[in-house]
Amino acid sequence: MRLALLIIAFLAGCPAGVQAKSNGDYTGAQASRGATLYTQYCAQCHGANLQGESGPALTGQILRAAYGTGTAAQLYDFISRQMPQDKPGTLSQQQYLDATAYVLSRNGFPAGNTPLGIGTLSQVRMSQQSTSATATATGPNTDEIVRAAPPVRNVYAQLPAGTNVNVTDSMMLNADPDENNWLLHGRTYDNQRYSPLKQITADNAKSLSPVALVQTGMTASFETTPVVVNGVMYITTPVVNSKMMIMAVNAATGERLWDVTYNLGPFQICCGPVNRGVAVGYGRIYVATLDDHLLALDAADGHTVWQTTIVSSQSGYSETLAPQIYDGMVIVGSAGGEWALRGFVAAYDAKTGQQRWRWMATDPKTYSGNSWQGGGGMVWTTPAIDPKLGLVIFSTGNPNPDLDGTNRRGDNLYSDSIVALDVHSGELKWYYQEVKHDVWDYDAVSNVVLFDVHQNGETIPAAGEAGKVGWVFIVDRRTGKLIRRSDPYVMMSKNMFSTPTGAGVDMLPGANGGAEWSPPAYSPQTHYLYILAMDQLMHFTTKFSPSASGLIRLGSAFTNVAPGAIQDGPFVALDVETGKIAWQYKAPQPLIGGALATAGNVVFMGEGNGWFDAFNAKTGERVWRYNLGAGVNAPPITYQVNGEQYVAVAAGGNFQLTFPYGDTVAIFKLPSTAGAGSKASPTT
Ligand code: HEC
Repeated sequence: MRLALLIIAFLAGCPAGVQAKSNGDYTGAQASRGATLYTQYCAQCHGANLQGESGPALTGQILRAAYGTGTAAQLYDFISRQMPQDKPGTLSQQQYLDATAYVLSRNGFPAGNTPLGIGTLSQVRMSQQSTSATATATGPNTDEIVRAAPPVRNVYAQLPAGTNVNVTDSMMLNADPDENNWLLHGRTYDNQRYSPLKQITADNAKSLSPVALVQTGMTASFETTPVVVNGVMYITTPVVNSKMMIMAVNAATGERLWDVTYNLGPFQICCGPVNRGVAVGYGRIYVATLDDHLLALDAADGHTVWQTTIVSSQSGYSETLAPQIYDGMVIVGSAGGEWALRGFVAAYDAKTGQQRWRWMATDPKTYSGNSWQGGGGMVWTTPAIDPKLGLVIFSTGNPNPDLDGTNRRGDNLYSDSIVALDVHSGELKWYYQEVKHDVWDYDAVSNVVLFDVHQNGETIPAAGEAGKVGWVFIVDRRTGKLIRRSDPYVMMSKNMFSTPTGAGVDMLPGANGGAEWSPPAYSPQTHYLYILAMDQLMHFTTKFSPSASGLIRLGSAFTNVAPGAIQDGPFVALDVETGKIAWQYKAPQPLIGGALATAGNVVFMGEGNGWFDAFNAKTGERVWRYNLGAGVNAPPITYQVNGEQYVAVAAGGNFQLTFPYGDTVAIFKLPSTAGAGSKASPTT
């Protein structure tokens, strides 16, 4: 049945008259070989007639929306690296070219006498169903696939003499005692954001002052976690006018070393033009973009090594997270929970960009009807890795539609969960669902943090997540079994799990939480998890909203209850051994950004009103603050250069909570003492 349909469609798509043209982009014979391949390897997901089934349609508007600004090189790149989705990279180069030719033939591109080859791909512009004769050749280099315009790169200065930015697996695995560096997004694979540095202490932090203000010129919601490798700091900026920047700066002086401006193709976003940072490894820098590309840049000078498409950006997917990097793989997920999409986590070969595995976040058995197909469960913060157990552990977002569960009856697994996969195969190992059948937008979103807890004399390897729903869930990371749910760290309304109605219900926590994406920090000295949270009273009203591909789909509406109602930001130290709050500090506005803990008994975090604060980690006493003049809504980091400890944080405000914008990464340290600069000298 399927085959018959396909043949009819193919004949219709490739009439004899078209083949007579001499200046087409591929040959009829090639497209015909491609059609056979398509039936065998692609039709089961994209439909016999390319109309789309579990995979998207490959004809017309849809394909043009995805690739319209590029060339066939980009289409080929995607197909050859990522398809067939269940066995990527398994066909030969010739077979991939033939399959690409077939997809072109079905999209009105004419056949001719010259076969589509690696050298001609970039001459086929996807924007018009035209011939190569009218297209401008973009040169023979098909390694660098052009999305909108090619990236623009500037090199300003040499890396500091002798700097090695080639981060190896053993450096990443031993990141914890490495005082100089902040190598991974969460500093270590356990996402603790805890540094053993102790020059800066709760006693001397009052002397901190800025040594550099790195102004990126990209003024918008700024969420990057810098990564520091041997005195070089890597940051990403938000997207402004369809551009984002990736920068390397001297981590001690703020001097710009190089930058790359990446031009984005079309994308859709719910919550600000944000990016949360890079992953660095194997001499490269990896960045996931809002238009769903994964970039690999050279860590020394920023040139593009490869780039690939993670997922189709036309539908509402957008990459906001910093990738995780582990054992030759780059691991990403995607935002987009406000669209009828299916969440996923995917791993790519760090060398080639080829997909290794992809895990889909919705389980059809737990969604009524076909609702799993657009059922959400987005993974939009960087996973933790447990190298010993071989697990990648992350949190998942809301099911879709966010606030209306009538057409997705069931638990809606694996939304709002802590999930562990085999890091090498992507196979599900365990999960713990925080909220079943969510209709309140209670994503599990802040990064999962790994730490030990103790019970009856036993040390248990645990994983904790501070959800939007307002509790920390601590599970045994060997099994996913709940060890404890903490006391609430935000205000909770009595009716917090009542279903939204037409008249509306007041909700605490609101749709932002609880705790939003802000990564918490964990100190093994205090056993406290430091959480940025918010009390934000909201009003949830049901409202019919139609479902259509590419349209945002909330199912209902949530509005902030009028100004003057509850709005504040608890910064909470929560004892993971007891689940009790040890201390808390109330900021006047909701908190979003991230925390840093150090062996100097200090914790740092920023506020929307521009204050960057330091606290005594044990007592919660505020010991220092500095106002940066824009919302400090990004996670701080710390590192050491030439024996001196530095603290850095981005201050660029926040779109979602309308905190004032800026464009600065501020770098602080203690005043140099006579001996500063020599590794041996204590500076306290
Ligand atoms: C097991 C299912 C499956 C198979 C087999 C498969 N695909 Fe896909 N394909 C998908 C899914 C799902 C997506 C969308 C997710 C993504 O973009 O990665 C996709 C995306 C695509 C896209 C991007 C479409 C867009 O709008 O951006 C192209 C092109 C494509 N596939 C071509 C092919 C070709 C050619 C083959 C056969 C060689 C193939 N696919 C085999 C599932 C599959």
